[in-house]
Amino acid sequence: MLTEAAVRAALAEVPYPGLKRDIVALGLVRSIAVRNDRVHVSLRISTAREDVPNRLREAIGDRLARAGAVRAEIQILTPEPAASTQALPAADRVRLPGVGHVIAVGAGKGGVGKSTVAVNLALALQDLGLRVGVLDADIYGPSVPVLMGIEDGARHVRMTEQHQIIPLQAFGMPVVSFGFFLGAKSPAVWRGPLVGKAVKQFARGVVWPELDVLVVDLPPGTGDVPLSLAEAIEVDGALVVTTPQRLSTLEAGKAIEMFRKLGVPVLGVVENMSEAICGCGRASHPFGQGGGAALSEKLECSLLARVPFEERTVIGGDAGAPAMIYDPDGASALVFSGLARTVSDALGLHAVASPDPVHAS
Ligand SMILES: Nc1ncnc2c1ncn2[C@@H]1O[C@H](COP(=O)(O)OP(=O)(O)OP(=O)(O)O)[C@@H](O)[C@H]1O
Ligand SMILES: [Mg+2]
Repeated sequence: MLTEAAVRAALAEVPYPGLKRDIVALGLVRSIAVRNDRVHVSLRISTAREDVPNRLREAIGDRLARAGAVRAEIQILTPEPAASTQALPAADRVRLPGVGHVIAVGAGKGGVGKSTVAVNLALALQDLGLRVGVLDADIYGPSVPVLMGIEDGARHVRMTEQHQIIPLQAFGMPVVSFGFFLGAKSPAVWRGPLVGKAVKQFARGVVWPELDVLVVDLPPGTGDVPLSLAEAIEVDGALVVTTPQRLSTLEAGKAIEMFRKLGVPVLGVVENMSEAICGCGRASHPFGQGGGAALSEKLECSLLARVPFEERTVIGGDAGAPAMIYDPDGASALVFSGLARTVSDALGLHAVASPDPVHAS
């Protein structure tokens, strides 16, 4: 006799097309109903890839049949197109040439450590032997140049004859930041359409070398930038960063919902500043406890990592020395390495990656 739990367990073995992560972990399953041997499953997805619903239907049907379902009704709901999707049709969205996977790092609230997580995740993915690039799409407050020690990027960045941006190099990775181009202009007062146009041009206008992963750092919130990014290029997955406080998790929840509406699978939540580690190695919880876990449970997505608060991270951030560089064996670096393995696994990349210590320094 088939139970709802058995159906859920079966669905947890169905990966999202193109990813290693399963449809239950991604929070795509809306409802399950079982009557005798008949199963009704409803999923909510939203993607520009037309093959996805059929591939999912087939994979789910196969898996449920193996679990003993005599008849399976599989309903796949795609949300109403957002107003902006009409302005820029999904067909207009491009896959960046030579870039295997695009991962966006977002958050609801500002200052929770998105950029810190994005930069260290990129370095940790590189340590796995992957070819990684960083795109700082935070038009309002680009901080990657400072975090990666390339504050003078504006002076060094060059364009091709076709006006494409040639990335700079930092820690062996190609990096492009809005900060290279803003000068004294203050996009904080830019209106939506202008931001949308700038993000689209920027996201598509870089000549990246062949990359396994491009990590995109986003500004906080659910505004024009993530929307424009997801409309302009294929984004394969998002990470949402939160601190443990309830206020931060509430905002992070909105970011998760936004990515889902945009058709970007949420790979999971990263809780930053989870606990403070003092010099003596003892941990305390000045920012509260358990927020990331509660959020991931509520919105049915995985809590991928809990990054400790370390004073050296603040100092290293200001000095252009991320944790993965200044203390590659430290507590934070270990967490980022674990996060990188989880992410590369979710993208199905582990098979192509072989650890390459050359990239580690
Ligand atoms: N785990 C941590 N331990 C200590 N300091 C941290 C940690 N994570 C981030 N910080 C510090 O907190 C500040 C904000 O971090 P960061 O710039 O990464 O946040 P953000 O979410 O990208 O901010 P914004 O919303 O401005 O883009 C920085 O000074 C950074 O060095
Ligand atoms: Mg930032």
